[in-house]
Amino acid sequence: MKIAIYPGSFDPITNGHLDIIERATTIFDKVFVAIAQNTAKDPLFTVEERLRLIKKSTNKNKNVEAEHFTGLLVEYAVSKKAHAIIRGLRAVSDFEYEFQMALMNRNLREDVETVFLMPNEKYTYLNSSIIKEIARHGGDVSNFVPEVVNNHLRQKFENNNF
Ligand code: COA
Repeated sequence: MKIAIYPGSFDPITNGHLDIIERATTIFDKVFVAIAQNTAKDPLFTVEERLRLIKKSTNKNKNVEAEHFTGLLVEYAVSKKAHAIIRGLRAVSDFEYEFQMALMNRNLREDVETVFLMPNEKYTYLNSSIIKEIARHGGDVSNFVPEVVNNHLRQKFENNNF
């Protein structure tokens, strides 16, 4: 059984993330979509909300599970008996940061590999921040996020003055 971890902030999950998850499940038997704590970020959605959105967006794929972890990614990967960490590469600008993380993770645990997958080019300019920015100003993000995320974003910005 080949297991992979797809870590990230997922604040919120987008169609670009789902594209990577689908690709990963063609290579691995089980993919854990894992919400990590990025201390540099101040998330809009709570961990529970993000988990729920990932679960609802991936519930058709039985090989996908969503979890939250704290601590080091490599330790979490080892605890799940994972063979690889999946990361998406959207553009050259992602490379330096991803290269640094992959090499640091390998330094911490030599037995955990990082596998890079490229999303469909229509998602290469997406990230969660730009989605939140458009939604905050009432723009239409329905082409870029699953329906459940779109509804959640609308509710969030209707009910709060962000
Ligand atoms: N489609 C759309 N957007 C994508 C994407 C895709 N395929 N791939 C990445 N992104 C976006 C994300 O939405 C995110 O956007 P944002 O910055 O606007 O929120 C951005 O690209 C990259 O973020 P993400 O993939 O969520 O990773 P991250 O940089 O927030 O976090 C972790 C990286 C979580 C993997 C890292 O912090 C970690 O491993 N933390 C655990 C602690 C640890 O082990 N640290 C040591 C690491 S060496």
